[in-house]
Amino acid sequence: MNDDPLLRPAPEGIERRPVTMASRVLMGGPVTLVTASWRGKHNVMPLGWYMPLSSQPPLIGISIEQSRYTAEMVSHSAEFVLNFPTRPLIHHVQYLGGLRGDEIDKFDATQLETYTPTHVTAPLIAGCAAWIECEVQEVMPLGDHILFVGLVVAVHVDPRSFDERWVLDGEEESRALHYLGGNAYSTLHRLLEARMPRDFEAPERILRERMAEELELTREARERREERLGQLEREVERGNVVDVSELEVGFDIEDQEAIDLSKGVVLGEAPPDERE
Ligand SMILES: Cc1cc2nc3c(=O)[nH]c(=O)nc-3n(C[C@H](O)[C@H](O)[C@H](O)COP(=O)(O)O)c2cc1C
Repeated sequence: MNDDPLLRPAPEGIERRPVTMASRVLMGGPVTLVTASWRGKHNVMPLGWYMPLSSQPPLIGISIEQSRYTAEMVSHSAEFVLNFPTRPLIHHVQYLGGLRGDEIDKFDATQLETYTPTHVTAPLIAGCAAWIECEVQEVMPLGDHILFVGLVVAVHVDPRSFDERWVLDGEEESRALHYLGGNAYSTLHRLLEARMPRDFEAPERILRERMAEELELTREARERREERLGQLEREVERGNVVDVSELEVGFDIEDQEAIDLSKGVVLGEAPPDERE
């Protein structure tokens, strides 16, 4: 048996998944719409596979499957724009992922509003939270994808969505859309701030205590929320007006399944199926 304390057997309940799941595990960042222009034609495709590569010079990488029309356009034009759509564009994003730019004019099909970039020729899409204009520096075929390394030549943000970082206390409609794979998306809801142990503290003990604190806080929050949902459910049963906006975290699909809102009047944030 291995007696290295860092190489203990995996805890119970941990499951193995196929290696193709690695890309899903890496998902969750804000999804982008890549715009490209070539020979007077414009195209747009959703893209979740991207990464920062260098700060000085500012380089980012985007990975596009070889057969995509966007890959061809970016290869020829040597530029692209990453547009970061906000929540109201969720259905546009998914829809655009099912269209091929060599078969259809996606801007015509979706009537997305666009405007002029500052450094490249690919258009910027309105209703986004941030935009990054890039010039391609390197093209690297990798497996069935092509990695385009882009030099960032301009960054634009809507401060309601992004200030020094993603804004989480603004309106839901200003939040960036995060992609989880398939047709699943999310938005960020809560800001959590990490506290570092101070120099004189024993870091392993302080960190262990803080972890216990966090577990306790999340458990308490869950209990409070369940209790409040139970109360709301009883109010709805009686046909009374309820206000779901007071719940600490937004009213989500699971909550909606737990409570039949058709029986009562709801104030605050509307249940998901009415918003979509
Ligand atoms: C949310 C989302 C994210 C996607 N991310 C990528 C990606 O990172 N790379 C890729 O090659 N295709 C990705 N796709 C698939 C392409 O967007 C899709 O194949 C698109 O129709 C290609 O358009 P084009 O042929 O006009 O380039 C994604 C699709 C969706 C819906």
